[in-house]
Amino acid sequence: MKISKTIDDLREACRAERRHGKRLGLVPTMGALHEGHLSLVRAAKTRCEIVVVSIFVNPIQFGPNEDLAKYPRNFERDRELLEGEGIDFLFTPSAEEMYPPGGVTYVAVEGLSDKLCGRSRPGHFRGVTTVVAKLFHIVEPDLAFFGQKDAAQATIIRRMVRDLNMPVEIVVCPIVRERDGLAMSSRNAYLDSPQRKSALVLCRSLAEVQKRFNEGERKAANLIDVGKQAFAKEPSVRLDYFEIVDPETLDGVDEVSHEALVAEAAFVGKARLIDNMVLNPA
Ligand code: PAJ
Repeated sequence: MKISKTIDDLREACRAERRHGKRLGLVPTMGALHEGHLSLVRAAKTRCEIVVVSIFVNPIQFGPNEDLAKYPRNFERDRELLEGEGIDFLFTPSAEEMYPPGGVTYVAVEGLSDKLCGRSRPGHFRGVTTVVAKLFHIVEPDLAFFGQKDAAQATIIRRMVRDLNMPVEIVVCPIVRERDGLAMSSRNAYLDSPQRKSALVLCRSLAEVQKRFNEGERKAANLIDVGKQAFAKEPSVRLDYFEIVDPETLDGVDEVSHEALVAEAAFVGKARLIDNMVLNPA
């Protein structure tokens, strides 16, 4: 595994592989790796000959009062995990390397980037699409791997790729969960033991919505009520949003007559956690 800290170094290495006809896969991350991240790496390994993982805590996707400074960083452990997965290139640029002074250009997916997390985190998705576009230009991957855990992020990146004709296939991998159902997240490290228990309301509320849906309920408002009632029983957790949306437009739906995304975000202590599931009436 070769570690690159500079754009020129990684770009050169990726170009050399491509010249040899190799298929490149990119897995963008912010580090503090867990099984969710590693599932993307393994998917990339099965479909690509060369796998590039980036670890970059992207400052421009954090709001001024968010957890950029405190975001968990554990480079040595991440390096060992990736070495164990047998990846080819690890890209760990500094903030100055990615954003030299004077940069004024951003990629914004208008209309989508102010939905769901974008509403409570203004500028977040613009920061994500900008850094992902930069990584695509640096690596020029054939495939790039993202998690369904961040469903809106995946939708927005797919739209960016389509709108800007980027020659990369986006692969979205299923949510990896802890044994008790909590979706894996680097931010779970913020939780103390009582909070860790309370955090289960995120997956419990989804399970209750799924149950009511299986019983035949199709009205989004009623299904949302079921989800919110689960949160009402867990007062230490502050719900940010609980929505049922079209997975492509991220607009709310009235009836679940087609595939719909149930998406939620909530604060457990200082950790802001998200989870989601897809309802399929077919
Ligand atoms: P990060 O939160 O580190 O996540 C990196 C990738 O891992 C994302 O595609 C995310 O959806 C996926 N992932 C995280 N938890 C997962 C889980 N439990 N199951 C499956 N996949 C999971 O998302 C980001 O970083 C950043 O926004 C990034 C795309 C790297 C841009 O900075």
